[in-house]
Amino acid sequence: MPAVVIIGGQWGDEGKGRVVDFHARYCSMIGRYSAGTNAGHTIMNERGKFALHLVPAGIFYGDKACVIGNGVVIDPDTLLAEIAMLSERGIDTSKLVISDRAHVIMPWHPVIDLADEELRGDSAIGTTGTGTGPAFHDKVARIGIRIGDVVDTERFPARLREVLDYKNRVITGLYQKPALDYDQILNDYREFGEKLRPYVADTTSIVQEAHWRGEMILLEGAQGSLLDLDTGTYPYVTSSVPASVAAGAAIGIGLGPTAIERVVGVYKAYQTRVGNGPMPTELDDEDGVSLREGGGGVPGTSEYGTTTGRARRTGWFDGVLARYTSRINGVTSVALTRLDSLSAFERIKICVAYELDDERVTTLPASLEDANRVKPIYEELPGWKQDVSEVRHLGDLPTEARQYVRRIEQLLDAPVDMISVGPKRHQAIVTRDIFGGRI
Ligand code: IMP
Repeated sequence: MPAVVIIGGQWGDEGKGRVVDFHARYCSMIGRYSAGTNAGHTIMNERGKFALHLVPAGIFYGDKACVIGNGVVIDPDTLLAEIAMLSERGIDTSKLVISDRAHVIMPWHPVIDLADEELRGDSAIGTTGTGTGPAFHDKVARIGIRIGDVVDTERFPARLREVLDYKNRVITGLYQKPALDYDQILNDYREFGEKLRPYVADTTSIVQEAHWRGEMILLEGAQGSLLDLDTGTYPYVTSSVPASVAAGAAIGIGLGPTAIERVVGVYKAYQTRVGNGPMPTELDDEDGVSLREGGGGVPGTSEYGTTTGRARRTGWFDGVLARYTSRINGVTSVALTRLDSLSAFERIKICVAYELDDERVTTLPASLEDANRVKPIYEELPGWKQDVSEVRHLGDLPTEARQYVRRIEQLLDAPVDMISVGPKRHQAIVTRDIFGGRI
């Protein structure tokens, strides 16, 4: 069977975790292929509410292989805490495997992350401060440390010495911060290595064999396409290599691109962003506040970051950017999330183009200055003003809600086959499974 990739079509936080959690039932393997501890997935199912950063959302089924691929950077402390939390809550983590090629967040990475933000001053990106960006930086600069190094008791001390000497010169010289202690790091990471060793494997072979056996593989993207280094609103992006867009999935998990047959784009029914950077449809008024606080949807689903707790910026659905990311990812179908959060609105706006210097444009300019100057051109649709959180069939949605969904399908050139109407696993309208079969 071909692999399916699930990606975020906006600035992250689209609800990919719950889409993966729902569709994982059809697969035997679920893999994370990019990003790191900066990512945050909130999942609510019959086992409770969970916040995951690294463990693939397929873990709740117990019988699925869950792979953290070579494209992910791992903070061992966070990962071990996540594994412990899952075990304490009765979730079996024995089918978790971690690529020996995945890079590791070392203690200098959060130090550099925060120091870089300080140096950027007014141009700060608003990173998660988890050290994820600097860890990818080291990967590209070829001075990264990989999980395979950490679990190799014999070679790790020398590799740490070599990299730490270099990093301490940077930290003390450039950033004027105190040097980090070799012995302390060695002890901490030896302990991490001991605990992680049972999970570490050559995941590329495991994934390829599963593919050759014809198993269904679900590849879970992290963050959104607009945060991607190449396709996003650079430099206000994250630093994942491989990309979080669908094209990165093959590299980050170790499959050929021809193994990927379908791409599910997850889009929130409106726009959110954490951190700085252009956001043409951002709302600073009471509608924006209403979107942040749940917009009349289910209480407790308000817009605050899973990783940092920061309030998310909110705005109307940006059809220009959504069409762009749908094409960049080759989206074959769409999961539209949080439709219920629009239930309170009398009128709902969708951005269909921008105005720039009195001209109508249908793409976001690459130049940051211009991207910050565009004015959204909106279409207005009637709201449905009723609770939809108990709706399970498309036909039972109010006409206005169906009209809204249809407009999004037109803009994205792809069918919407899952709509979430509440945070719990069953609060969804699903018309097709991710492999295209009717439900
Ligand atoms: P970094 O990934 O920590 O370097 O942060 C870079 C940008 O990506 C910042 O604007 C972050 O807020 C944003 N970001 C990183 N991870 C996520 C995520 O999982 N959801 C939403 N935004 C994120």
